[in-house]
Amino acid sequence: MAALPADFRWGSATAAYQVEGAAREDGRGQSIWDTFSHTPGRTFNGDTGDVAADHYHRYPEDVRLMADFGLNAYRFSISWPRILPQGRGTVNQAGLDHYDRVVDTLLEHGIEPMVTLFHWDLPQALEDEGGWFNRDTAHHFADYAQVVLERLADRVPLWLTHNEPWTVIGQGYSRGLHAPGYRDYHKAGTAIHHMLLGHGEAVQRFRALAPGSAQVGITLSMAVVRPWSDAPADVAAARLLDGEQNRVYLDPLLRGSYPQDLDQLFPTLSDPAVVREADLEVIGTGIDFLGVNYYLNHIVKADPAVPVLGARLIDPPGPMMSAGIAAKPAGLYDCLTRVHREYRELPMYVTEVGASVHDYVDPDGRVKDQPRIDYLRTCVESIARAVGEGADVRGLYVWSLLDNLEWDLGYSIRFGLFYVDYRTQERVPKDSAYWYRQVIAEHTAGEGPR
Ligand code: FCB
Repeated sequence: MAALPADFRWGSATAAYQVEGAAREDGRGQSIWDTFSHTPGRTFNGDTGDVAADHYHRYPEDVRLMADFGLNAYRFSISWPRILPQGRGTVNQAGLDHYDRVVDTLLEHGIEPMVTLFHWDLPQALEDEGGWFNRDTAHHFADYAQVVLERLADRVPLWLTHNEPWTVIGQGYSRGLHAPGYRDYHKAGTAIHHMLLGHGEAVQRFRALAPGSAQVGITLSMAVVRPWSDAPADVAAARLLDGEQNRVYLDPLLRGSYPQDLDQLFPTLSDPAVVREADLEVIGTGIDFLGVNYYLNHIVKADPAVPVLGARLIDPPGPMMSAGIAAKPAGLYDCLTRVHREYRELPMYVTEVGASVHDYVDPDGRVKDQPRIDYLRTCVESIARAVGEGADVRGLYVWSLLDNLEWDLGYSIRFGLFYVDYRTQERVPKDSAYWYRQVIAEHTAGEGPR
């Protein structure tokens, strides 16, 4: 098996709303996730991110844990409403100061920061003006990016504009499971376009402002999509799902055009009033790398009874490993090599892979999460295999550092390397944290993947 590069990033990832808490502190404004989680019936058990894993206050302890366990990289997101409580206009210095301290603390511990600018917590004030349906949100996003870059780009080498536009659109605009809770495929195309336009405009600001050594990309949620059978209806349905999940993002970013076969889902992407002249050029502004999140493995069966999609998703056999989805970790290899094969050679970071397990602390104090270890080991092997075939993969950020609020599923499932006791906020390293430390040590010692 191929060795991973010597400077490979061994990291973990979090997102602001899922871990920070401190929802009303230091001038933070409200986001759509505050609204959504506080609306009865939207999240499991009515769970909210008000306190979460209290990472806002406990980040020094959490950074120490990362360092103790040998991690050399950390991906976290910045809360847009901490920086701009109204989404635009007045900057909240206390918000910037917080992330300034986080970055410095990481660097003091030899941990390289990777910053995500948008991990779903859109300021509510912008949602009130139409959110991602409104073209102006793209411009406001670029302005917000500029404020953050001006403060942190001198010390943060790796940047991401958006995290998983598919999930924002698929869960938040098409299926109504995530904030802001719309169920409208047809209009969702407009939100896709504005998110991508915001990405492109932010990349342009980045080029103007950030030092040459800093790099910018975007994280996509890539899925392996296969037809249930060779029947033409199943093959066509799988192609449509692949379009919704993967191609509608990869194509404009890496080829400069939207796929031509998705009108059934996103008719506004061929409306010149939405996709204006030169927009695709802005969206295609070159990125330095692609962030790949991998969880989803779809088997698609045509079913005319299902509205819009005309298809059902069948879970592949196996245990439920990722937020109620039977993910197959080996599929990470397919995603990484697909980019390389069908699009272009591009540096990639695996910005999330992870498994949810029903963890608990045993009387002996251990959290025995062997299924997570097995899952992550297959991910490391998949990366090494892709690298062996020429894919330029430079890092792995395990989802997640800590147990946290899993969006609409609340605190019902756990993804962390560290168990969080939400009554006391105590962190308990799981067996997977010790396993990861060992893997990192072996690779750093040049022994190749295990
Ligand atoms: C991804 C999200 C991340 C987390 C994991 C389980 O889709 O980016 O915030 O919820 O799923």
